Amino acid sequence: MLAIRLVSGPARPDTLVLPIRPEGPDGPATLVPTAAPPGDDVRTEAVALLPAARLTGAAGEVREHLRPGGTPARLWLLGVGAGDEHDWRIAGAALARAAKDETHITIALPDEAADALRGLAEGLLLGSYRYRLTEAGGTPALAEVDVVVGDPEALAPTLESARTTAEMTRLARDLTNTPSSTKNPEWFAAQVASAASGRAGLHLRVRGPEELAAEGFGGILAVGGGSASGPRLVELDWRPAGARTHVVLVGKGVTFDTGGISIKPVPAMKLMRKDMAGAAAVVTATLGAAALGLPVRVTTLAPLAENMVSGSAFRPGDIVRHYGGLTSETTNSDAEGRLVLADAMAYAVRELKPDLLVDLATLTGANAVALGKRHGALYSENDDLAADLLAAITAAGERAWRMPLADDYVEYLGSEIADLHSSPDRGAGSVVAALFLREFTGDLRDRWVHVDMSAPSWSDDVHGELVKGATGWGVRGLLRWLATLG
Ligand code: BES
Ligand code: MN
Ligand code: ZN
Repeated sequence: MLAIRLVSGPARPDTLVLPIRPEGPDGPATLVPTAAPPGDDVRTEAVALLPAARLTGAAGEVREHLRPGGTPARLWLLGVGAGDEHDWRIAGAALARAAKDETHITIALPDEAADALRGLAEGLLLGSYRYRLTEAGGTPALAEVDVVVGDPEALAPTLESARTTAEMTRLARDLTNTPSSTKNPEWFAAQVASAASGRAGLHLRVRGPEELAAEGFGGILAVGGGSASGPRLVELDWRPAGARTHVVLVGKGVTFDTGGISIKPVPAMKLMRKDMAGAAAVVTATLGAAALGLPVRVTTLAPLAENMVSGSAFRPGDIVRHYGGLTSETTNSDAEGRLVLADAMAYAVRELKPDLLVDLATLTGANAVALGKRHGALYSENDDLAADLLAAITAAGERAWRMPLADDYVEYLGSEIADLHSSPDRGAGSVVAALFLREFTGDLRDRWVHVDMSAPSWSDDVHGELVKGATGWGVRGLLRWLATLG
């Protein structure tokens, strides 16, 4: 990963980046005052350049100006828009892309630098992300970015927090991008074990098929039953001394979703290695909470299963007995996510008794139908909790939209032979899935949030700090939110 250093003056000014912003509605861009202006006449030169350069200062705009024989040899003007954290994140990502052939650049930051630094660092680290299974195609050359600020020491914690957030988001992207030939439930659990090892205060328990059977996790066993790679339940606990709030995070961990016997057609199946993006997000957010030493207890549950087609797969018409005893009739084996989540949530409510319960899941195609590619669908009965989490998600540069837990559709969940029907096909797919999960929240019904993040878990193109492929959606928002608890 790219190294970012805080410095109080340019040390290796071969390429110097100066931020610019829009002057007014139509005027040329103007130079942003920076903490430690570069020594020689570069600033004057930049001011003189601006009217001719026809730059707007919009976030992400980059223009190179060559200065043969000069120091620095290259001057870059970088649009930072409104100069808030969000626009700096976009600028940072654009800078990482523009600098793909450089090995070292220096950028000057404005005086009030904390938000700018956070955005810049996350943008640089997330925009330069590449998933590579082999060395084919090479890696970006940019190795080091020096950031000139007034007081490097005072900003060190801000950089540290941004770096941890980006690192964990990158880990979530790696896990989600990994092909399912490698990524089975056992492999995912092993990745969690190696990422968690050696960190005081973190405890990991992984249940295998036998333990799941002994304790009655019928949903996880049904979904995982068709695969040669048995299911797992990861329970990762960050337990700082003196924590007053206990949060349980649950993430859907279907390592590949064929749809099962209700098999998916080719176009719908091709990306289903990403069907564990919820598990990746909650696990890495918990690792991040531990790395940052956040004073809140977080227990993360990742029910892991591969939804396959085989002679041992569960069938449409089967009845599943979930953890705690509720039963569900399943008429579509492709509605598997809610079955594994239901077990984990019921376990959390009965055994862990947390203060708050949040689940993230690539649960339905209907998420994208309702909200498009970039918003998660957020559900909660608790207005304050929903508002707090939405605010954290937005501040972190992710997007979600609150959706209704409309009681109109509860009747769809009726079954003649079980407590619940898990896969009604009468519309409002994302809402109905949320209503199904609500049945497993027990006492925590009004202290629960569900986020359907099928759509924003993947990006079809380069967009701001996102690259093509897994986005790591949820890690940043969860970490922001956890940082507000204590
Ligand atoms: N993993 C899928 C949902 C999904 C679809 C995620 C597209 C990401 C992109 C989930 O298991 C599923 O198949 N859901 C069904 C539910 C239906 C059978 C009730 C769906 O959305 O069609
Ligand atoms: Mn499915
Ligand atoms: Zn699925």
